[in-house]
Amino acid sequence: MCGIVGFIGRHDAAPILLDGLSKLEYRGYDSSGIAVRDENGNFEVVKAKGKLKELFEKTDSGKAIHGTTGIGHTRWATHGEPSETNAHPHISGTDVDDSGVVGVHNGIIENYVEMKDKLLRKGYKFYSETDTEVMVKLVDYYYKKYKCPPGEAIAKAMVRVRGSYALVLMFKDHPDEIWAARKDSPMIIGICDGETYVASDVPAILKYTKHVYYIGNMEIACLKEGTAEFYNIDSEPLEKELVEITWDAEAAEKGGYEHFMMKEIHEQPRAITDTLNSIIKGEGKDRRIDFSCVGISDEDIKKISQIYIAACGSAWHVGMAAQYVIEDLARIPVRVELASEFRYRNPILDKNGLVIVISQSGETADSLAALREAKDKGLKTLAIVNVVGSSIAREADYVVYTVSGPEIAVATTKAYSTQLIVTYLIAIHFAAVRGHLDADKYAYYISELYTLPEKIEKIFETKDKLQWFAAKFVNVHDVFFIGRSIDYAVSLEGSLKMKEISYVHSEAYAAGELKHGTISMIEDGTLVIGVLTQPSLYEKTMSNMVECKARGAYLAAVTSYGHYNIEDTSNFVTYIPNVDAHFMGSLSVIPLQLLGYYLSLSRGLDVDKPRNLAKSVTVE
Ligand code: F6R
Repeated sequence: MCGIVGFIGRHDAAPILLDGLSKLEYRGYDSSGIAVRDENGNFEVVKAKGKLKELFEKTDSGKAIHGTTGIGHTRWATHGEPSETNAHPHISGTDVDDSGVVGVHNGIIENYVEMKDKLLRKGYKFYSETDTEVMVKLVDYYYKKYKCPPGEAIAKAMVRVRGSYALVLMFKDHPDEIWAARKDSPMIIGICDGETYVASDVPAILKYTKHVYYIGNMEIACLKEGTAEFYNIDSEPLEKELVEITWDAEAAEKGGYEHFMMKEIHEQPRAITDTLNSIIKGEGKDRRIDFSCVGISDEDIKKISQIYIAACGSAWHVGMAAQYVIEDLARIPVRVELASEFRYRNPILDKNGLVIVISQSGETADSLAALREAKDKGLKTLAIVNVVGSSIAREADYVVYTVSGPEIAVATTKAYSTQLIVTYLIAIHFAAVRGHLDADKYAYYISELYTLPEKIEKIFETKDKLQWFAAKFVNVHDVFFIGRSIDYAVSLEGSLKMKEISYVHSEAYAAGELKHGTISMIEDGTLVIGVLTQPSLYEKTMSNMVECKARGAYLAAVTSYGHYNIEDTSNFVTYIPNVDAHFMGSLSVIPLQLLGYYLSLSRGLDVDKPRNLAKSVTVE
């Protein structure tokens, strides 16, 4: 979604704002803008439609604008088309010179039409179609009406609006301050060497500081040079601790790869090892899964009657794979729910159930709402999250972090893989606690997990073959992915990877389901990709592939070493190493990620920033 950066210090703000915004481009954007206060206290606002490079050009990379306090924004349109007028920052007047307040905003103000009507009646004039302009003017209205400090005016506006937002404002009368507030939309404040930064996401300020404050929900912050003060909605001061971020700036750079996605695909062995090591303690046969810092006790685990997994997109696909693994190992019934459906259908939940929410960003609006729904119904919640301190991590009863580092490419790869790993560890641990695993089997599963990183490296050796295959199918229109059980879950992910970055229509089907309708779409040359890694289901999926071939399909297969007879049927095969069947999804997904990547590349598309998409979906 949109990105926010703000700076107050001794250096010119504009180059810092542009640099920070460029680190947030991956969140999705269609226009951008900055506002800087000059030495005479006047605001200068520059906006541009399209890529951030337009704003760089308009401002000579920020060098043309002087002033040490400023705010910036990359916009992903929700209200009003992408245009310079609708781009942020927005002003409280009709002209920058008659404006006392200027601001940027992420999220959605749901009742903005009602607020706009109120302000129109009070004589405000609007130039854009955005909810942000309404919010800025609403703050201005209260500021003038009550002649109160900025924080109180912001609080009054927060009480009147519904929705989710991260809001950053400058007030003409308060030259040495930037004000920020948030509700259900992420924002952090960084401090370093007498200078202060605010951003919607860590990578924007990582180059400058690793020391940050997290602003809580419905809290307000006042930033000054090198300090920040915090208030609740009643304007009472709050104490906050400065937290150190462990990611380094290099982790958010491309590191020699052409795209973040390829870099992140290659980081998977390391990310998996780090995630395993963060949870597994001890050596050799004594290795144990240690959830003590998660806080979930053996007693809690024994009481669980049912697991509900709620997530969106790829994280939901992780849930689909986890369902098979947890049910098979821990013998606990698992239901996997799309968070966007779960939150609105008033689900009947067993009080002894555990709700697991999976999210890379920890800020996905629907997943956060699903978590709250579960908590409201009195269930315990466990979050699997990558971004430390994110809303989902803070609100869940238990949190297990994936150790992926920052994921920048819009299409997830390493976060998906580490989420899978955490679900395997939950399955093994819960199985052991509930008496379904003996010591040998326990040690076997853990040692199998530790073989994954080097097996993934082995799959990277097949990259050329996959690139060739992608080039051959560069003009493909429709693709069907089929598989059973875990292979079906991975097919869903393979299909999404293809759609989101290659814009090729594809569908994933449980292989046995095809003949109940969809097989009518198979005709001469239709590409069908089978995922066949589950020994007990290999023959079954094979039969479904043969049914497609009989109708003219071109067959491609992902299967494991040893199944060489597949070449008698399949036109193209990519082989992966073997691992215990429960964990095969961690290997079979790799060629499918690479296929999505190479197809996007062959089609000349923007791999890291596909159209219409955003990295962190903080609106419903
Ligand atoms: C696809 C992708 C998305 C996310 C989904 C949930 O490649 O990245 O489908 O998985 O938007 O995001 P998080 O995990 O941040 O909740």
